[in-house]
Amino acid sequence: MSVMSPRPESSGSRAADPGSAAIRIRGLAKAFPGHLGIGRKVALPGLDLDVPSGEIFGLLGPNGAGKTTTLKLLLGLLRPDAGEIEVFGLPHTAAEARARLGFLPENPYFYDYLTAEEFLDFYGRLHGLDASERGDRVQRALRRVGMEGRGKTPLRQCSKGMVQRVGLAQAIQHDPQLVILDEPMSGLDPIGRRQVRDLIQELKAEGKTVFFSSHILQDAELLCDRIAILEKGSLRFSGALRELLPSQIRGFEVTLRGANLENLPAEHLWAGEEETTLLVADAVELERLLAECRSRELLVVSIWQRRESLEDLFLRELGQEPGGES
Ligand SMILES: Nc1ncnc2c1ncn2[C@@H]1O[C@H](COP(=O)(O)OP(=O)(O)OP(=O)(O)O)[C@@H](O)[C@H]1O
Ligand SMILES: [Mg+2]
Repeated sequence: MSVMSPRPESSGSRAADPGSAAIRIRGLAKAFPGHLGIGRKVALPGLDLDVPSGEIFGLLGPNGAGKTTTLKLLLGLLRPDAGEIEVFGLPHTAAEARARLGFLPENPYFYDYLTAEEFLDFYGRLHGLDASERGDRVQRALRRVGMEGRGKTPLRQCSKGMVQRVGLAQAIQHDPQLVILDEPMSGLDPIGRRQVRDLIQELKAEGKTVFFSSHILQDAELLCDRIAILEKGSLRFSGALRELLPSQIRGFEVTLRGANLENLPAEHLWAGEEETTLLVADAVELERLLAECRSRELLVVSIWQRRESLEDLFLRELGQEPGGES
């Protein structure tokens, strides 16, 4: 494995290419010292990944899969052993590339004697924002994360979820083109999760790229244009969600009302006092069932398509489905 040759910190005359992928990773490798400093523990053996510009991309995988390591390498917080990372066509260490990034770390911990506003003002300065615009930007960012009117709260009095929101405000206040979020929904209640999902979608509507890691597959399914599943540092699966999930219809659930439900051509899932729900495997079986319902004058209350969820896909790809490989 060749060691990555150091690249110049500034890209000099090289301008960012607006048409290029937001992130392009090739052969990215990282190992850490093993337990008690003995041996090496490989976190990433050699990752290739492309994140298209303007999309929401979810990096998924079980604990220890290498998600945070990938994000830290991307941010330049860790040095890779090998490989290349480009951000909008620029080396990720270039000042122009870094200026286009916003980052929320996993389990953020901030200097907690500052208020939320002071903290954001401090980061605004680090991002090079003028004093004249910082005040407005801080208030706007607080509003966007559902912390309006709470800027005077010292961070030490903030709950875990509030700290997470302040961290998100910090990641977006300087209007970065690429927002990188490590577990953005963790520690949030259902309302907070919903607000963060809405925020991520707003960022996309503004033309930003969002690259986030998550354990919460339902959130990833609701949000992502594209996902990648990592396991032990290797890419197990990657693709556009709308291509992966809609094709995988897992049957239809049909709810009926009426008497004479004996021997219908379907699997019985559930029977209530008034309604019964049946399952058929595909459109042909659905048509047969509906014809039978018409001839028996049964009322069809609802028909639900049963689709493969991201969780089904995740468990199958990682071989943890009952009966799957492990
Ligand atoms: N600083 C470090 N020193 C030693 N090993 C590390 C270090 N950071 C990460 N690792 C190891 O690298 C592997 C990948 O860890 P990483 O934190 O990237 O996983 P993750 O996918 O983010 O997991 P989680 O879902 O729990 O956040 C793990 O085996 C972890 O123990
Ligand atoms: Mg992590």
